[in-house]
Amino acid sequence: MMKLSLTDLIALKQQHQRITMVTAYDAPSARFADAAGIDAILVGDSAAMTLFGYDQTKGITLDDMLLLARAARRGASRALLIADMPFGSVQVSDEVTVANAVRFVKEAGVDAVKVEGAGPMLRRIGAVIDAGIPVVGHIGLTPQSADQLGGYKPQGRTAAKAHRLLEDARALERVGCVAIVLEAMPEPVAAQITSALTTPTIGIGAGAKCDGQVLVWHDLLGLGGVPDSAGGHARVPKFVKQYADLGPQIVKALEAYIADVQTGRFPSAEHTYSMPEEERERFEADLAADRRR
Ligand code: KIV
Repeated sequence: MMKLSLTDLIALKQQHQRITMVTAYDAPSARFADAAGIDAILVGDSAAMTLFGYDQTKGITLDDMLLLARAARRGASRALLIADMPFGSVQVSDEVTVANAVRFVKEAGVDAVKVEGAGPMLRRIGAVIDAGIPVVGHIGLTPQSADQLGGYKPQGRTAAKAHRLLEDARALERVGCVAIVLEAMPEPVAAQITSALTTPTIGIGAGAKCDGQVLVWHDLLGLGGVPDSAGGHARVPKFVKQYADLGPQIVKALEAYIADVQTGRFPSAEHTYSMPEEERERFEADLAADRRR
């Protein structure tokens, strides 16, 4: 299948075809997403929480993200590959931000990087774009600044704040973003932003009027949390639709494995290498001779 290009995203918007995006952080997951026909794979810094067990995204490092992006690159062939620039990689200066973005392109072969925020980040984003690296914007609930936003809460719920988001989206389009993620905002706000822009919008918790949707791998597949002793699950945000509940299946498979090992049912002959009978006899005879010496 032919690899998608970033201009295909704009074509999809123009043709009113919805864009699909999912996070993935390793080669097999990216391969699954690709095989399912996803348009874009996001190596999100949500990996800080989904993979590394932090309670927020700020802890993941640039080197962590590069490792994950390189792995996902090996699994993705048709889908676009976009990587999040983690907290700390865009805060220092335009020069450092560009150098870090270059690493994503050269070391992980990503098609674009995603940068959270607008306002003071616009100059940074512009510098990366000027260096020839496509940028996906991200406004609304931007997890790297969740502390300043009062926690993981929907944004743009007053007219004034909704206007601000629309202005931020317009500014990101002006600076040249190839797409903009709209996270956790009321549907009418995301709808107005989407119709005001030629740049595709990708929603997460932003309703059905965006040009596309993105979900986090672990939320979508029900891998979000280890079931507790009462069979309960870690809380998932309101906007998540879970398409599978793989967590309990994983626990069940592991329980079966443990029981098989403990009872000697695994490994059986089917999973065991043999050797020619005469070689085995020679080996054992040699050992017996050694013991007699
Ligand atoms: O890190 C991530 O997974 C994201 C998505 C929630 C858009 O930024």
